[in-house]
Amino acid sequence: METIILEVDNSVDSDSSYQQAVDTLKKGEVVAFPTETVYGLGAVATDKESVAKIYKAKGRPSDNPLIIHIGRKEEVAQYAQNISKEAKQLMDAFWPGPLTLVFDQIPNKIAVNALSGVETVGLRMPDHPVALRLLRTLQLPLAAPSANRSGKPSPTEAEHVAKDLQGLIPLILDGGQTGVGLESTVLDMTTTRPTILRPGGITKEMIENVIGPVVISHHLKEEEAPRSPGMKYTHYAPEAPVFLIEAKEEIIQEAIKSYQQQNQKVAVIGPNELEQAVANWYFALGAEDDMNEMAMNLYKALRMCDGTDADLILAVEVQATGVGEAFMNRLHKAADGKRYTATSVNN
Ligand code: TXA
Ligand code: MG
Repeated sequence: METIILEVDNSVDSDSSYQQAVDTLKKGEVVAFPTETVYGLGAVATDKESVAKIYKAKGRPSDNPLIIHIGRKEEVAQYAQNISKEAKQLMDAFWPGPLTLVFDQIPNKIAVNALSGVETVGLRMPDHPVALRLLRTLQLPLAAPSANRSGKPSPTEAEHVAKDLQGLIPLILDGGQTGVGLESTVLDMTTTRPTILRPGGITKEMIENVIGPVVISHHLKEEEAPRSPGMKYTHYAPEAPVFLIEAKEEIIQEAIKSYQQQNQKVAVIGPNELEQAVANWYFALGAEDDMNEMAMNLYKALRMCDGTDADLILAVEVQATGVGEAFMNRLHKAADGKRYTATSVNN
């Protein structure tokens, strides 16, 4: 299959590009498009055969429900029931934006394979002009996971989508680099106290300022029997193994040197301030006090490691507060439990 990439920015007349995307989706095919978080791989969420093509292109197991994207708040009532006052307050505060709300579903509206058989539905209204225009022109909901091959870092540029899915999907809408850089916060509104299933750009503090106390799922760290099934797979992993490392200059230098003594090439991902000349590659994410910038550049840096012949990647830790919580959540998954300590080099 040939993959067409269409640039859609405001400087060019892109009516025909949107029409092509809508026609492709209505024919039952998938289309990759930018959101404010990461690129999504969309299919009409009410059509089972279309949704099946998402799983096929991604190589993703189908026991993991997909987020359903809508273009208008009013559409929530078509797919979800028992919508609480708190949920409405959150929609008013953060939609469009990087917050997915999980509700009880109205049965038989969304294709069963988009929801992998669960009785809930995760809905979100993305804050990106291309995503919103696509959804509003289409006038149908889009099931859309991140547009990467399963296990790879989520794409934050059209080029990343092409790298993973070239030849597997018919169309990519290119809207430039995405702004948030990490996937949306997933908040389960069906529990007595709303539960954060996945941290993201809308932080716990921001949510609590609107509706009061929420719970963070303890499965975020312990991965057994996850409520949000997506949490149990290896994620965001570049080819070389990733080790977390403390944000201390001496420790980072010591680690680089001892790996290099064993003839290993080291790539480091970290803040501008800790850039190490001795590293074989250093991918600077941004100023250490600018968590938003660091988050925006994380997946790109993980992917850039694949363009090197590094034997291992050291990823510098940040404080797990605010957006830092989502950042560290993704790094933990990329590292799959591995963390540098002086002894891990010598064994
Ligand atoms: O920012 C995002 O959310 C991106 C962009 C494209 O919108 N999408 C995305 O989708 O990250 P995906 O499919 O890669 O991640 C969906 C996450 C998974 O962890 C999944 O288990 C959880 O949301 N999820 C979706 N629906 C759910 C439901 N009904 N109940 C519990 N968890 C759900
Ligand atoms: Mg994903």
